[in-house]
Amino acid sequence: MSKTISLTRYLVEQQRKTATPSGSGGRIPPELRLLLEVVARACKNISHAVNKGALGSTLGSVMGSAESENVQGEIQKKLDIIANEVLIEANEWGGHLAGMASEEMEGIYAVPNRYPQGEYLLLFDPLDGSSNIDINVSIGTIFSVLKMPEGGRAVHEADFLQAGNKQVAAGYCLYGPQTTLVLTVGDGVAMFTLDREQGSFVLTEENVQIPPDTQEFAINMSNMRHWDTPVRRYVDELLAGKDGVRGKDFNMRWIAAMVADVHRILCRGGVFMYPWDKREPDKAGKLRLMYEANPMSWLVEQAGGASTNCKERIMDLQPGRLHERVSVVLGSKNEVERLTAYHHAHVNAL
Ligand code: AHG
Ligand code: MN
Ligand code: MN
Repeated sequence: MSKTISLTRYLVEQQRKTATPSGSGGRIPPELRLLLEVVARACKNISHAVNKGALGSTLGSVMGSAESENVQGEIQKKLDIIANEVLIEANEWGGHLAGMASEEMEGIYAVPNRYPQGEYLLLFDPLDGSSNIDINVSIGTIFSVLKMPEGGRAVHEADFLQAGNKQVAAGYCLYGPQTTLVLTVGDGVAMFTLDREQGSFVLTEENVQIPPDTQEFAINMSNMRHWDTPVRRYVDELLAGKDGVRGKDFNMRWIAAMVADVHRILCRGGVFMYPWDKREPDKAGKLRLMYEANPMSWLVEQAGGASTNCKERIMDLQPGRLHERVSVVLGSKNEVERLTAYHHAHVNAL
């Protein structure tokens, strides 16, 4: 009988795997293991709410016609708020966190004084792909874990402003035909499928690898006229297919939920782009650096792919603000490097 490995068992084995002979310094300290299990539990609850759909009064926007907006000026759906609350309530009392930050909250959420303070910081996009909620198409939760730079004091927003290369764990939970939790703690990428009968996440894929070459790309083509020259050049070449300089045909997919597009890329390769464009030239991009681009970049890199803002490695960017936006190109390494090189060539030619 093949053995079933639960998320708990995977995390315990990760903890042992790299423990030093003195017994300290495992890759996953117990508090981080607890944190990840609590996040997974919260995702199970969100998955349940997502599954209920119209039966659970969870569809639609907040307060009917009087729609509310989040700090980014986007309309909040009921599920955005529900998912945010589920994650906060699940994580605030366990003693593993100092604070949380979310797409749906303007400022940070410090763990209330009535609970013990931990040394980790949790950032999340509680519900990614909100425009898919009401049409029964895949959505997800994205999360990133950082350490408090120093303990023994109150948490401030500045504590969260760490580059992606400082993450200690990152992942997402995809609410699709299956509910799938995808995780890295810096030792490759593992995928877990929710077994609803057992109520637990079961390891279904380990050592996920993104092939360096691909014939599939993802970008919102309706923005083409707003793109910068290198992006246009790159996509024009993809569209030219066999007859163009690439000498092969490319296929396109766009799910409008980064979490689902990235999942496809982790499963079979591809390149995902949400580049800066001229619609709002003062914004660096649409996607948020700290709780969308950074965790996805680490997962993609851990699977052998690459991720840049079209110029530099995303994980090396120093965030200046919690809700900072960024241009994103990630996925199969050779494609990401090609588009990034086109940007450098363009800048050098100016
Ligand atoms: P969110 O629902 O958290 O605001 O994020 C949606 C993001 C991302 O997931 C997706 O790739 C992109 O927005 C879709 O943008 P378009 O609507 O421009 O296609
Ligand atoms: Mn999002
Ligand atoms: Mn969101």
